This record gives sequence, structure tokens and C-alpha cells, in this order.
Amino acid sequence: MDLFIFLLVLFSILWTVTLILTSNSKARKSSKLPPGPYQFPIIGNILQLGPKTHQSLAQLSKTYGPLMSLKLGSITTIVVSSPETAKSVLQTHDLSFSSRTIPSAALALNHGGFSVVWLPVGNKWRQLRKICKEQMFSVSRLDSSQDLRKEKLEKLRDYVRKCCETGRVVDIGEAAFTMSLNLVSTTLFSKEIAQFGSDSSQEMKDVFWGVMKCIAKPNLADFFPILKSVDPQGIMKQNTIYFEKLFKIFDGFIDEKLKFRSTNNENEVHDLLDALLDLNQRDESELSRIDIKHLLLDLFVAAADTTSTTVEWAMTELLRNPRKMSRVKTEIEDIVGQNGQIKESDISKLPYLQAVVKETFRLHPVVPLLVPHKAEDDIEINGYIVPKNAQVLVNVWASGRDSNVWPNADVFMPERFLSHSEIDFRGKDFELIPFGAGRRICPGLPLAYRMVHLMVATFVHKFGWKLEDGKNLEEIDVTEKFGLTLQKAIPMKAFPIEM
Ligand code: HEM
Repeated sequence: MDLFIFLLVLFSILWTVTLILTSNSKARKSSKLPPGPYQFPIIGNILQLGPKTHQSLAQLSKTYGPLMSLKLGSITTIVVSSPETAKSVLQTHDLSFSSRTIPSAALALNHGGFSVVWLPVGNKWRQLRKICKEQMFSVSRLDSSQDLRKEKLEKLRDYVRKCCETGRVVDIGEAAFTMSLNLVSTTLFSKEIAQFGSDSSQEMKDVFWGVMKCIAKPNLADFFPILKSVDPQGIMKQNTIYFEKLFKIFDGFIDEKLKFRSTNNENEVHDLLDALLDLNQRDESELSRIDIKHLLLDLFVAAADTTSTTVEWAMTELLRNPRKMSRVKTEIEDIVGQNGQIKESDISKLPYLQAVVKETFRLHPVVPLLVPHKAEDDIEINGYIVPKNAQVLVNVWASGRDSNVWPNADVFMPERFLSHSEIDFRGKDFELIPFGAGRRICPGLPLAYRMVHLMVATFVHKFGWKLEDGKNLEEIDVTEKFGLTLQKAIPMKAFPIEM
């Protein structure tokens, strides 16, 4: 809000100046920039973003088309809003668009210089992606850690069961967040880092939330990079505090692991942290301890909230559609029985559950504008020029709700993916790219795939769900809250009933 008041004041001062400046639509025409709304001097189109930026941009693109240009402060921003144009950017010209525009909050503790999320495509970034792919997300790596994840899912089931017994409501997003942190920490270093309802876990979660808020918060220093060193809203300073807290926690895990390795020759579980420490001990210059901490930071921030928010949206839609919820339940029972526990290898036998997850990604992509890309050169697309250094936002939320692409686009209909099961979200079908596509596609997709299906299945398989007293299905709120991830504005809470 402080940002907007500041901008409004700035805007009124500048309004008079506007009258004596030449029309910028002429400038746009002569430079062949894609069309877009009128850009006010200095602030450009910042005020048109609104609190639900993805929706405002989708609305504007209905007037200006699937390749639209805006000015956000001094940053030229190109917004892509159709599958065809997304394909031009992320496939045809993938390399030219594979860099990032970095929010200044992500520069705290020089994170941008170490981070797989923010580094430009180059040797360092390739090395980190290779480590992720080979040491963490390969099928063999994921298969070898699946029993640990299974154990954690049992804890989720026990927690929900306890809520049944005590008549407590379950905050589904919150439970899924705790679970996601643990599934990731277990996969990374065979250790649980959060417990349901504990104070220390809450503290840890608050730090992760804090980081995400800092990165998502509208920041004058991002709109006017000249202000970066001033940090006018103190966002970078705040994020430095959060990063330092997380690094202290990671230092603890690394020290514990090093101690364990020095006293146990036969290290049974060789997890990601072992693999990273092996690399570090082989050649410190290849992967330093600082590199390891920045990588862990990236993986937790990228993984936990995206996964849990997707699960919360899936459960929200199933609660609004009890017949679809029953269909998922019946399908799981047919495969694993009433008392069995679903395994990761069962997912491929559950086409309706898979369709529910795809439909959730279509309607509620949790990273609605992907992570900002950046043009490395002037690139021609659809007859327009995307200029070098422009920030490029791909509005996957808009494509997911486009009625020219999807019949009954606003309706939750997993069945559409039963008749079109070939449509997938692994970056080849540009109408459904919740994980992005091309070089920068989410490296965590294979783990996210397993976690989302398993968590939804765990919530549904052995429990029925009842809304809070007196609430009807129609009253389940689906208002979105825009941020680093697209959250539910009102958390989804419901009472579990053991079946
Ligand atoms: C990047 C989505 C889970 C790690 C991304 C991007 C998206 C995304 C949209 C940016 C793609 C682009 O800019 O084109 C999701 C969704 C998830 C999920 C929807 C869950 C439902 C995970 C998990 C991990 C992870 C579980 C790791 C444990 C990363 C990393 C990047 C990334 C490291 C940066 C890659 C790069 O810039 O090279 N993710 N993600 N994500 N994701 Fe995920």
C-alpha cells in the first residue's frame, strides 16, 4: 500500500509533465514494439497491474493481443498470453529468452550470483542444473528415496486421523505445506524439518514465508533499478535477515552430516546432501559450502509452497465437487484396496487422479506468470520486436482460462483430460505449461509430480470431508491471492471423517 501511495503522489506530479511530452504510442510504432496500453511517463503501466496482476494482464491482453508490451517503471515488459506465442518464446527462441530479470530481494547475500533460479544460462547455471538432474530428480534417485517419503505420508495420514478423533478442523494448505517441507527435506538430506503444530516448525515456516513475501512484494527498486542500492522499502534488508536465518539452519544440517560421515564409514543412505558434499570434498572450487547453502535455499523456496498450494487448490475443487472426490476415492480403492497405502508406482494406474491434477494445473497454475524471463537480444515475434533486456512474463493463467483453447474454460472438469490424456504438462503442450518449458523448465517437476499426486491421494483415500458448520458447497471461496505463488485468499479448512 505504501508503494501505491508513493506512486500516486509521483503520478500526480508527473501528470502535468505528461502534457508536454510526445506521445509514446508514436515511439512504440516506430520501434515495432508489440501493442499495449498507453504508458504514462516514468511510472508507465504500474498502476494498471492491480492486486491480481495475472488477471489484470489477462484482461489487457484481450484488447492488445497475445504479445503485449508494457512499461513497469523503467522496465520494458512483454506479456505473452497464448499457447502459440508461448511456444515462440520458450521453444523457437528458447536460448534468447532463457535469462532472468532478477528481483532485488533475490540479490540479498549475493544470492543472484549463486542461484540456479536467477543465474543467467552459463557454466555455473548448467553445473547446478546438472547436479539437480543427476543427483536429485533422476528416476533412480527418486525411486531410492521413495520409502522415506512414504513414511512422511503416513504421518500426514496420522495427523488427519487425529483431527478426526478430536473433531479438529484441518487447514489443508497448512498441513500440505508442513508435508511439502518434510518431503523435500527427506529427499534432500533424509531428515524431517517441520512437525505438525510445533513452535520451532512454525518459526521455520515463517522464515520461508518471509522470503517468499519479500520476493513477491511490489518493490520500487525493481521498477526503478537506479534505486536498488537505496533499498527504499527495506525489502532487501529484511530478506538478508531471512536468508541469514536459513543459512544458519543449513549450516547445522551440513555440520551434522559431516560429523555423521566422519564416524560412519558405511553410510547407508546416500542422499543429495551426501552427493553435494562429495563434490565439495573432491574440489572445493567446483562446489563450495556457500554454493550448497544457496542451492538448498533455492530448492526449499521453489518446492514447498508451489507443491502445497497446488494440493490445496486440488482439494478445494474436489470439496466443491463431491462426486469427483468420490470418483478419485473409488479409483484409489480399486487399485490399493481400502486399507492399503498408495505407492509412487501406483500413480500411473490412477488416470482419474492424474486428470484431477492436470485440471488443477490448468485452472490454478501456482506460478501464473512463470518466473520472469529476459530477452538477450532483439527478437522478432509475430512481426513485432521484443527488445534486448525486456522482461518477459508468460501468463499461463490466461492460457489456462482461454475459452478459445478450452471448452467451458472456467469449469473444473478433469474428464477433459480423460478424453485427451495425451495433453501433458512436461513442456511440450503449450496450452498447459504450469512448470514452464524449454531450458528453464522446472527441474523439480519429477518430484513435484510424485508429491502432488500422493498428497491428494492421502487426503482423499481414507477420509470423507465435511465443511465447517452450516457452510454450503457454493460458499467455498475460490478467490485468488497473487504473490510469488497464486494462493487461495481464504485458506481451505474442512473436517475430516474417517471412512
Ligand atoms: C522453476 C513451477 C515444484 C525447483 C520453476 C518455474 C515454474 C515452476 C513455473 C519457472 C519456469 C520458467 O521460468 O520458465 C513449479 C510447480 C511446482 C514446482 C508448479 C509444484 C507443483 C518444484 C520442486 C522443486 C522445484 C518440488 C525442487 C525441489 C525449481 C527450481 C527452478 C524452478 C530450482 C528454477 C529453474 C531455473 O531457473 O533454471 N518451477 N515448481 N520446483 N523450480 Fe519449480
